[in-house]
Amino acid sequence: MRLSLSAAGLSLLGLAVDSYWDIRAGLSPAYIIVPSTADKVSKAVQIIGTCQAKFSVHDGGHMNYPGANNIDACVLIGLSNLNAIDVKNGSVDVGPGNNWYDVYSALEPYGSVCIGGCMKTIGVPGLSLIGGFHYFNNKYGYAMDNVISYDIVLGNGTLITVTRDAYSDLFWALKGGANNYGIVTRFELRTFDVPKVSTTIQVFNETCIADFLSDVCEAAKLDDEDPIAAASVLGVQAGISMPPSQFTNFTQIRAIETINNITTMKPCDTLDSPKQTMRTWKDAIDKIADVQGLYPTFVTNVISATSIRVAKTNGVGNLWGLEEEPLIIWQFSTGWDLAQDDIRMEAWSRQLAEHLHSINKKLGLASEFIYMADTGEWQDPFAGLPEKNVDLMREIRSAHDPAGVFFILSYGGFKLGL
Ligand SMILES: Cc1cc2nc3c(=O)[nH]c(=O)nc-3n(C[C@H](O)[C@H](O)[C@H](O)COP(=O)(O)OP(=O)(O)OC[C@H]3O[C@@H](n4cnc5c(N)ncnc54)[C@H](O)[C@@H]3O)c2cc1C
Ligand SMILES: *[C@@H]1O[C@H](CO)[C@@H](O)[C@H](O)[C@H]1NC(C)=O
Ligand SMILES: *[C@@H]1O[C@H](CO)[C@@H](O)[C@H](O)[C@H]1NC(C)=O
Ligand SMILES: *[C@@H]1O[C@H](CO)[C@@H](O)[C@H](O)[C@H]1NC(C)=O
Ligand SMILES: *[C@@H]1O[C@H](CO)[C@@H](O)[C@H](O)[C@H]1NC(C)=O
Ligand SMILES: *[C@@H]1O[C@H](CO)[C@@H](O)[C@H](O)[C@H]1NC(C)=O
Repeated sequence: MRLSLSAAGLSLLGLAVDSYWDIRAGLSPAYIIVPSTADKVSKAVQIIGTCQAKFSVHDGGHMNYPGANNIDACVLIGLSNLNAIDVKNGSVDVGPGNNWYDVYSALEPYGSVCIGGCMKTIGVPGLSLIGGFHYFNNKYGYAMDNVISYDIVLGNGTLITVTRDAYSDLFWALKGGANNYGIVTRFELRTFDVPKVSTTIQVFNETCIADFLSDVCEAAKLDDEDPIAAASVLGVQAGISMPPSQFTNFTQIRAIETINNITTMKPCDTLDSPKQTMRTWKDAIDKIADVQGLYPTFVTNVISATSIRVAKTNGVGNLWGLEEEPLIIWQFSTGWDLAQDDIRMEAWSRQLAEHLHSINKKLGLASEFIYMADTGEWQDPFAGLPEKNVDLMREIRSAHDPAGVFFILSYGGFKLGL
């Protein structure tokens, strides 16, 4: 029987419908399970395996295409009740129901930070299992490189703790392997002493785009882990120099508006993610939109050599297996008004991405690496990983999920193919 839950029904079960960042991801599951303990997650997975039920897992809800973290007419597991946070000495235990604002807030009184997301409403699990762009990647690597241990429910329902020494194959595979291995019920994240950060926001006239991009390239080429700093949505640097010294190249471009500040990683309003789709983001984007109904943004995410070196030298590594050279990832986040334009807009972004990639290929500048957390549903993030890593991922999957519960029965995210 197909039982469609109303929006009110979903809220009652503790899963607010607006917890989907993209309107397109809101589907109609037949059953929603919101377990309150890891043991209940384990029971749920056992039952799902026995019944051969199709299911999907939802946490922060930021992955942004239909079916990324939701399912029609089948089972949805929501982990919002697994929201414990336990601050320890040098690490913090975090349940998957938390977002980064929750974690940064818990660490603030200790003057500590962990490597998470730049915007505060992003969920902990998706980002930590996929990679994790943060302001301090230069020095500490990605969020995935800073997970010390995982509690995970495997396909047969067994709950295990995975560390560098216990289940070391899974420990490696979870550093980029996303939801291909099980449901993580606890992350232990490394923490660092960074009591204060210095931030800068600058708004430039479009005549400055070339200067801006050239400064982004210079920043990517830097082979320095100190000072700890990066610019993504805003420039953030550890310490209290104001304005942050690392962004002098950007400050030299004449800005229309500049806001500098000294604050903590528990983010101020500027770190909020634009809430619920770009459909309501319209007002802000209007300023630059001259195309009817189109709200495009272009984000440059920098991968520096030092950020890659962390995994190369920590004795663990990660799935990306990138070389120690600078990369800039292009990301288009585009909003539009009407559902009837979904197919047209998806085709538009696909053509644009493929066109720009082909130009880069001709110039010998292209990389096949795709960051899974921002992948379009038509892209294959595994195709850009080293082949030997992908082969190893499959072997590890066969060893720990021989029945293929997280392959055949679980939907959402990016599943490694046959
Ligand atoms: C506005 C915005 C800002 C962003 N900023 C950043 C950024 O600064 N840095 C960055 O690196 N990325 C960023 N991203 C991308 C973000 O990392 C991904 O969208 C990520 O998937 C979000 O994780 P979540 O927990 O919110 O996701 P969900 O959408 O809830 O989950 C993502 C995937 O992981 C699976 N999953 C969820 N929980 C678990 C679990 N406990 N165990 C196993 N699998 C699970 C889900 O089934 C789903 O397939 C941003 C995205 C948006 C929309
Ligand atoms: C934390 O651990 C460090 C090193 O292991 C130790 O020097 C320090 O005293 C500990 N601090 C607390 C508050 O326990
Ligand atoms: C941007 O620069 C151009 C050329 O210098 C100028 O005509 C225009 O008014 C500027 N726009 C803003 C918003 O400052
Ligand atoms: C600033 O730009 C110069 C080149 O113009 C470059 O050498 C330098 O590394 C850049 N500094 C930073 C911090 O990006
Ligand atoms: C600067 O940081 C302080 C402390 O976190 C905060 O209260 C204030 O709102 C911030 N100001 C701006 C302009 O962001
Ligand atoms: C479940 O899988 C794990 C990992 O492969 C294995 O160690 C365990 O014995 C399995 N448990 C059962 C009950 O089959």
